[in-house]
Amino acid sequence: MITVAVPGKLYIVGEYAVLEPGSAAVLVGIDRQVRVRLTPVTSAGPVARTITTNRAPGRGVEFIRRGSGFEPSPATTADSAGLSHALAALAIVDRYAVESGCEPVGFALDIDSQLDDSATGRKYGLGSSGAVTVAVVRAAAQAYGLPLDPATELKLALLSVFSVDPYCSGGDVAASAHGGWVYYRTPDRAALTTALARHDQELGALIRRPWKHLAVRSLPPPRALSLEVGWVGSPANSSELVAAMKQSVRQHRSVYRQFVAASDRCVEHFATACRSGDDHAVEVALNTAGRLLRDLAAVSGTAIESPELSRLRCLAEELGAVAKSSGAGGGDCGIALIDPARAPILRQRWRAAGIEPLRLRVHKRKESIR
Ligand code: PMV
Ligand code: MG
Repeated sequence: MITVAVPGKLYIVGEYAVLEPGSAAVLVGIDRQVRVRLTPVTSAGPVARTITTNRAPGRGVEFIRRGSGFEPSPATTADSAGLSHALAALAIVDRYAVESGCEPVGFALDIDSQLDDSATGRKYGLGSSGAVTVAVVRAAAQAYGLPLDPATELKLALLSVFSVDPYCSGGDVAASAHGGWVYYRTPDRAALTTALARHDQELGALIRRPWKHLAVRSLPPPRALSLEVGWVGSPANSSELVAAMKQSVRQHRSVYRQFVAASDRCVEHFATACRSGDDHAVEVALNTAGRLLRDLAAVSGTAIESPELSRLRCLAEELGAVAKSSGAGGGDCGIALIDPARAPILRQRWRAAGIEPLRLRVHKRKESIR
């Protein structure tokens, strides 16, 4: 049996702007994980696969090899809808493996995500689709006996998520693949998905060539600041928020361009401050990133900092900390950077205000990818 565990993520700075090719964000991989277990299965008939998840225990979805792909067996078609990221990851790895001369393999795949609260089913917004994608790419490549270097794994996982949603930046994939504090610059997704759709193009060649803009680098964490995470109790749908932002940006093109430029500067300041161990500059950059998002929300009419996220931030600021929404906003989580000695009181105040402090730690990182 092959077992892999991949961390979830949290955005620190750079949200929304990182959707523009060449723009960057900073994220962290966290110590809540998606676990994938893969058991190879050989059968006399067509190659078959079963996928089970802890979201729908006991309701496995079966896929049978037909032509050059896999199709859900008719009895389970309806259940395959929630598996889009896992299926996209398998399709990419299959294509890559078959090109490398491998025969398709059959297996039973079990996906167990700890990123949501399993007891209550609450969604915290810790990036399960990116983590599932990385975990499935890693496990399936091992099933084929194909060793993936970190850059190849990252690119296969990015192509998988871009093929499901061309409007996601891939930041969650970078954080989940890499772990730790991560600086991520997004490639030109439109160019990549066009190249991917051309089946005459060898996937291996697309993976091997350098991708313009793409960068994933480890950052040292702030020296003496504690990263605190609060869940405001309402799940948010990032794709809907991103779609609403795209819509409203059409009327505010120059404001959006200015936002992206300012966000990029802020992300660079944040990264430089981490590298030089300047916690004060880290705080200034995080504060600026939050303000830029609030200004963007005000102009675009979208709700990035919900009233609950605003409360989370104000409670942190009252204790001298810096805080902001994390990710697309509208709900999910907010983050604060605070003197560790004051973290317990911040958690207490958040709890009193109905905000759940999440006891997350940053996941250990790998070496720089490129
Ligand atoms: O809400 P989250 O954690 O899924 O973050 C979304 C961040 C965006 O920049 C708004 C979108 C993206 O794909 O980067
Ligand atoms: Mg979110």
